[in-house]
Amino acid sequence: MTGGITPAARVRALPANFFGGLDAAVAAARANGVDVIDVSKGNPDLPTPPHIVRAMQDAVADPDNHSYPAYGTRPALADAIALRYRRDHGVDLDPLTQVAAFHGSHEGLMAAVLGLADPRATLVVPDPGYPAYASAAALAGARLHLLPLDPARAHQPEWSALAELTDAAALLLNYPHNPTGATATSTTFERAVIEARRLGGAFMHDFAYSSLGFAHRPLSALSVDVERTVEVSTLSKTYNMAGWRIGFAAGSAEIISIMRGYQAQAFSTIFGATQDAAAAALAGDQSAADALVDVYRRRRDLVVDGLRASGWDVRPADGTFFVWIATRGVDDIVLATRLLEDHGVAVAPGSGFGERGRGHIRLALVHPLDRLTELVERLGAPGRALLP
Ligand SMILES: Cc1ncc(COP(=O)(O)O)c(C=O)c1O
Repeated sequence: MTGGITPAARVRALPANFFGGLDAAVAAARANGVDVIDVSKGNPDLPTPPHIVRAMQDAVADPDNHSYPAYGTRPALADAIALRYRRDHGVDLDPLTQVAAFHGSHEGLMAAVLGLADPRATLVVPDPGYPAYASAAALAGARLHLLPLDPARAHQPEWSALAELTDAAALLLNYPHNPTGATATSTTFERAVIEARRLGGAFMHDFAYSSLGFAHRPLSALSVDVERTVEVSTLSKTYNMAGWRIGFAAGSAEIISIMRGYQAQAFSTIFGATQDAAAAALAGDQSAADALVDVYRRRRDLVVDGLRASGWDVRPADGTFFVWIATRGVDDIVLATRLLEDHGVAVAPGSGFGERGRGHIRLALVHPLDRLTELVERLGAPGRALLP
């Protein structure tokens, strides 16, 4: 470094930014004139429903929202979060003590991990899993303990991997699951609470795909426990609001209070207009959110049926908007590179999600049907020729 400035140990410990690397590869291919179909990231392509945009426009015009917002979560938003839990999951929460808004569930996850894990404490995370868990552990100086998900049992945890572990600050799961699209069984959540209690830690559930279940509405971990469990959710996927940066946490009042304490010091406050619009989204008409599930179902069926017809090893997922494909022994990074360079399709290599993701690629269904039809044409016979 030219100025002799050394980053702090916690920054040096951070893993490479996986999604940033994918973006750079796509940008380089586009700069070379390739017409890239980018399915490497779970970035929703559809616009936010108009009634939510209108609520935001009104809220932005309100001068009350031009000064510093109060710390914490606005009552209307806290009430709207509690309303959704009651209606969608039959879970009663106290909006004063059991919910908190964040700038997206990413920030909620950070507040939970940083608020609960001391340096050298253990954080149990799923393998494969969303890369931000490792980043959060690195920032906290915590150790990761990998909990393998068993593909033979619909990607539920292999609990025997915790047999030797005696304590942990938190056990983290994520269903519907990024990257495999698996959904949770209630047995999985019940066992997670038992294990978290045994380990003396919290059960943290990442519920980012809370609305995206194809057979039924995904199960909330709070329907099993609210004493030791906290669930982080987001408006990013449910209402196509990924750019708005708004999400929330709900569950154990003890954990929520810890997360709020961390939030006020580390992240300050949340723009009042975003909170007003988020309240309108959660408390208002849900038909657009319901219709979105059918949009992703049609996209999933088109891609999965098309790829299977060409001999790819892929099954329809129960939730999320991802397609998880086995590479039949071909190195996933090599395959992802060939698919981008030779066929103009950017996918996420599975090894970016952990050791158990190796030998897979992940596709995000974030394009309209005509573009996905083209994706199937590119990946079908030509892409399949890259596999044994
Ligand atoms: C599993 C999972 N958790 C959390 C997030 C973060 O979402 P956001 O910060 O937009 O709420 C994502 C985003 O893709 C995700 O896939």
